[in-house]
Amino acid sequence: MSNCCCKNKFEDPKLEILQKYLAEIKNTRGALIPALQKAQEVYGYLPSKVMQNISRELKIPFSRVYGVATFYAQFHLKPRGRNIIRVCTGTACHVKGADNILQGIQETLGIKSGETTSDLRFTLETVACLGACGLAPAIMINEDTYGRLTPAEAVKVLEQYK
Ligand code: FES
Repeated sequence: MSNCCCKNKFEDPKLEILQKYLAEIKNTRGALIPALQKAQEVYGYLPSKVMQNISRELKIPFSRVYGVATFYAQFHLKPRGRNIIRVCTGTACHVKGADNILQGIQETLGIKSGETTSDLRFTLETVACLGACGLAPAIMINEDTYGRLTPAEAVKVLEQYK
């Protein structure tokens, strides 16, 4: 049995990955956004303790770290679901009944747009256009696009995602 203390230096493997990355970039100009992106990639979102860690390591005030994290839509301060549902509410989809699809999904999952189910299975979002207007009404789940759906079909599609 080894008595080496180094092995357990990082009890949290995610923290170890982040710390290594921060050590590489901490003297680089403009390191904050890449640091936040890496943290989100590793943790799935940006917990407060992780932003505090970034603040400490990069010697940037926490208020600035928090300000940047809340400014950009790419960053998420709450846990996200394993599956991200994006319901398009753009004009083409709106005309073809996107509101009914959104309502059907909201009622089925018991969450509103911008929320995540308590089991972290789904996060529900609305977007202005998925670039698939010819398929209106369209939704995306992760990288998969579904079009010309009825509300019932949209709800049925969710079953494929665990
Ligand atoms: S408006 Fe819905 S995909 Fe463009």
